[in-house]
Amino acid sequence: MSNVTFLSGEKVPLEMHKVRMVQRIHLKPIEERFQSMQEAGFNTFLLKNRDVFLDMLTDSGVNAMSENQYAAMMQADDSYAGSETFYRLESVMQDIFAMKYFLPAHQGRACENILSQALVRPGSTVLMNFHFTTTKAHITINGGSVEEIIGDGGLVIQSDAPFKGDVDIGKLNEAIGRLGKENIAFMRIEAGTNLVGGQPVSMGNMREVSKICRANGIPLVYDASLLADNLYFIKIRDAKYKDVDIKEITREIASFMDIIYFSSRKLGSARGGGMLLSDEKLFLKLRELIPLFEGFLTYGGMSVREMEAMTVGMEETLDMDVISQTPIFVEALCNELIAKGVPVVTPPGGLGCHVDAAAFCSHIPQGQYRAGALAAAVFIASGVRGMERGTLSEQRNADGSERFAEMELLRLAIPKRVFTLSQIKYAADRIGWLWKNRHLIGGLEFIEEPSVLRFFFGRLKPVGSWTDTLIAQFRKDFGESL
Ligand code: F0G
Repeated sequence: MSNVTFLSGEKVPLEMHKVRMVQRIHLKPIEERFQSMQEAGFNTFLLKNRDVFLDMLTDSGVNAMSENQYAAMMQADDSYAGSETFYRLESVMQDIFAMKYFLPAHQGRACENILSQALVRPGSTVLMNFHFTTTKAHITINGGSVEEIIGDGGLVIQSDAPFKGDVDIGKLNEAIGRLGKENIAFMRIEAGTNLVGGQPVSMGNMREVSKICRANGIPLVYDASLLADNLYFIKIRDAKYKDVDIKEITREIASFMDIIYFSSRKLGSARGGGMLLSDEKLFLKLRELIPLFEGFLTYGGMSVREMEAMTVGMEETLDMDVISQTPIFVEALCNELIAKGVPVVTPPGGLGCHVDAAAFCSHIPQGQYRAGALAAAVFIASGVRGMERGTLSEQRNADGSERFAEMELLRLAIPKRVFTLSQIKYAADRIGWLWKNRHLIGGLEFIEEPSVLRFFFGRLKPVGSWTDTLIAQFRKDFGESL
């Protein structure tokens, strides 16, 4: 957002773009929303988009693209090998990150597969500020384990700490001493940090972690999927970087890292992924796996049209108007909810607004998936589709017992440049209503539970008949309104 002050003093997140292509969406009555939720096994991943009003499941692959991205898609070179499209993408990536080698992959988790196959050995540990679901699954499937060393402040829901994704340096040193550097496959920084509420990592912290990793010969891997948000927060929350060019900030981050990988379903607002690195030996090791799992080296499983969109999207990521839009809308939604008393993660991060389901649904036992139940209730009450980010998104312990998540969150993602302010206000209104009626929300239990990444296609049902009471109350309060 540009620096525009309103006469009233109100802070309005003013959009620096206009809409030139639209998609029709429908708000169905609550009874039909309930029906859809039931058919989806009370799992928002299984809803059909035709039944959804505001799709806040994720920003992944659903950010609005610019006219320049669409235009670039028309000039794609679809040669199997040696495509001009690849060389355009490669050179933009090399330039932005100032790293020598670029490897394409079809999305973020494909990079995680390659990295884990190349670097993780049975018994080895990967240290990280915080895990992401697909990252952890790839590491564990290769026999490794994940240890999280985020600062204790990162898990405090309501806080004013500006960089809650920071690694705890004491824990890092302790882990290296305890595990032995030879048993650490790599150290991974995820910034912004998805599962703690899209919270950023500070430049100082990345610098410090890098120093320690280099001194110990531990490869430092950066998951840059949420880099755009992190760049914005470094600029506005670290006074030292207020006037530093976004590209310079990006290159400084990159200078600390041995490997950078990302999902360009997020970064660059297209659909794809890739990895950057400078070390030739490591590059050759990772490169071997690309044709095996992804495709030839000049497309890596991506459509060339998406690669063109990614190239332009990456260049556009170096623009404050582009990277600020999601964080300021996240802040707007958080502020609307806070004003209604709804507990959310603060300070607002990137990616989306994160509602504290543990507080919202404290009356539901944790084993009945508070965040999953809240996600279902929000959809029934509003047609807004959010994503459970709590115990349902965890893997069970090896002995089959439930691994309770540190945080029970309902994420309401704000894809870049997709929603209007009135849609944000609608979501806040209905969630505010639900907060007042939170005692009506009940728990969920599995009826079908997959063993891997169960949150994607597991099916559940309500414990008892709380959904009937909730719908009756909605009708009482809203009359015929949808
Ligand atoms: N790393 C982070 C930090 C992510 O947020 C994601 C995806 C991935 C890796 C995997 O990338 O989807 O391209 O394979 N996050 C999405 C989300 C799915 O909704 O937060 P992918």
